[in-house]
Amino acid sequence: MSGDLLTITIDGKPLSTPAGTTILDACRAAAIGVPTLCYLETLAPVNACRICVVEMEGSRTLVPACSRKAEEGMTILTDTERVRHSRKLILEMLGSSVDLSLANAELKGCMKEYGARPERFGPTARPNAAGERDKTRPGHHHAPGPDAATTLQPVKDDNNLYVRDYARCVLCYKCVEACGDDAQNTYAIAVAGRGFDARISTEFNVPLPDSACVYCGNCIGVCPTGALMFRSEHEMRRDGTWDESKQTVTSTICPYCGVGCNLDLRVQDNRIVTVSSPHDSGVTRGMLCVKGRFGFEFVQIRKRA
Ligand code: SF4
Ligand code: SF4
Ligand code: FES
Repeated sequence: MSGDLLTITIDGKPLSTPAGTTILDACRAAAIGVPTLCYLETLAPVNACRICVVEMEGSRTLVPACSRKAEEGMTILTDTERVRHSRKLILEMLGSSVDLSLANAELKGCMKEYGARPERFGPTARPNAAGERDKTRPGHHHAPGPDAATTLQPVKDDNNLYVRDYARCVLCYKCVEACGDDAQNTYAIAVAGRGFDARISTEFNVPLPDSACVYCGNCIGVCPTGALMFRSEHEMRRDGTWDESKQTVTSTICPYCGVGCNLDLRVQDNRIVTVSSPHDSGVTRGMLCVKGRFGFEFVQIRKRA
């Protein structure tokens, strides 16, 4: 019953956790580290990545800590050889097929901590041509070759505000959740295809301007790998001018409407380069609308008529 305290044992320590909380909540409250990738406090768990798996006494399989609710008397082990091996293998499969060079610090830290060696899967196969992965249909299996299958493909660059670089996508579903039930309720993107051919797509793979997208950019705000990126950042990285050592972050309030969303303005060389909102903001929970997210250019235009 909600409000009741449950007693569970994690890594040999008996702990109390409120009914309704997850194994991950209990671990975090006890400062026991469990890595996550597809989980975010502001989104419903989708159980897509399985990085957070732990051993549960009585369970044949490992269980995902991010979504499995705590139960009275549960006994959990978070750091056994089986758990570490499973996490390592998942990271290696991701790293062998996806470009993780711009992944967030948590994911990069995990690769190191679990000793992931994606190169074990062989050299990377040739990159996909533009649109090649989008044409794959369920049921068409390809014989594996000596090379590691890859999601490498050209960046999708079809609008003024942001680019989609699905060579970096780990299919964590966070963008789908943020575009759908958990924030924007726009449903412009979803997962198409199956197995290794699964990919994030607009409806019928139409370009973003022809899709239902309203350019809130909430997908960018939750993406852990840099697969979704402000055009400003993409162009600066391409031109070699993106320099985090020169950047500062200023917290302020969006000036456009009375909601008063919290904004974090990332500034380089006296220009706003990206805008985000803190996930722990009680007003936004990290989500913004198109004006707050992208409407910052006026600040930089000083000319008056
Ligand atoms: S684009 Fe980013 S947020 Fe969306 S599924 Fe891929 S990695 Fe996750
Ligand atoms: S981000 Fe959008 S909803 Fe929030 S204060 Fe700005 S204009 Fe209003
Ligand atoms: S973080 Fe739990 S399944 Fe992805």
